[in-house]
Amino acid sequence: MELRMYLFAVICFVLLLMSGCGAEARMTTSACGSGAVATMAPNTLTGMTTDRKNFSAAKTGLLSPNRILNIAHRGASGYAPEHTLASYQKAKELDGDYLEIDLQMTKDCTLVAMHDEDVSRTTNSDGKVSDLSLDAIEALDAGTWFNDEYPYQAESAFSQLTVPTLEEVIDTFGSEVNYYIETKTPSEEPAMVDTLLRILQKHHLVGEDVPSGKVIIQSFSKNSLLEVHQKEPSIPLIQLIHFRKKAMLTDPEVDEIKSYAVGIGANYESLSKEFVGELRNDGLLIHPYTVNEPADMKRLIDWGVTGIFTNYPDRLHDVVDGMEGGG
Ligand code: G3P
Ligand code: CA
Repeated sequence: MELRMYLFAVICFVLLLMSGCGAEARMTTSACGSGAVATMAPNTLTGMTTDRKNFSAAKTGLLSPNRILNIAHRGASGYAPEHTLASYQKAKELDGDYLEIDLQMTKDCTLVAMHDEDVSRTTNSDGKVSDLSLDAIEALDAGTWFNDEYPYQAESAFSQLTVPTLEEVIDTFGSEVNYYIETKTPSEEPAMVDTLLRILQKHHLVGEDVPSGKVIIQSFSKNSLLEVHQKEPSIPLIQLIHFRKKAMLTDPEVDEIKSYAVGIGANYESLSKEFVGELRNDGLLIHPYTVNEPADMKRLIDWGVTGIFTNYPDRLHDVVDGMEGGG
């Protein structure tokens, strides 16, 4: 009897300890949210207050409204297969200010660089990323599709390319580059933000000593951005919006966006000179996507955009250089 009581007490003690560890954790609902995946409490990464203290830094440096950020969309994806290390290497060589990376999460909870939820467009297989293990995804050919689709840009080495994990991209390029990261379909992957923040923390890409704008996080999902803002308010956020018609936002909508984001990213065809001017007057950055033709780049810069997503970073540099030279 005494032994049973003793064992009961030990088990209770262990359970108590485990529940104490959960004070800052919650279980999420996806497979990737179970078990070891715990949600960080707000501000555990930097110990910052919930004030958006770094937003004053948006007036200088990378986030200055006076510069035109050159955002290499999926890497220099006009020249190499999107979201591969080759595409990001090319973007670096072409002096893109940012490597743009879309995120998907594998069945075994690893973040990989991929735009689509399904691997069929950009690899030699099919199936949803969330149904495939990392091993299965890493075995795919992520380059031959590009050689087939763009024979004038084809390189035999591209057929050896694989789908990189986010950490692989960061391990390769480190802090020499800046990252503009998009949480894709975050509502289906509740652990995505936590996993992303842990990776950024591990690689010292967030925090007090990191220049503001070293990493920008973007999403079409307001909830995803609010989660980032709550947990790591030092990271500048861009609210992506796809306007079906002419871009328009009410004053309350602008105020709402300004409460958590430094700007918006929008489909460039929807924009007007008036809209861009109003957003700039409201103190928001504006980054149109995806702009590949020099005439469009020039028009948007004339209107006052503060950065452009492009598959051709070299073209954007040429346009900006030409305009600065009075061209
Ligand atoms: O992130 C900006 C732009 O990339 C959004 O469109 O579909 O290319 O991710 P998408
Ligand atoms: Ca994107």
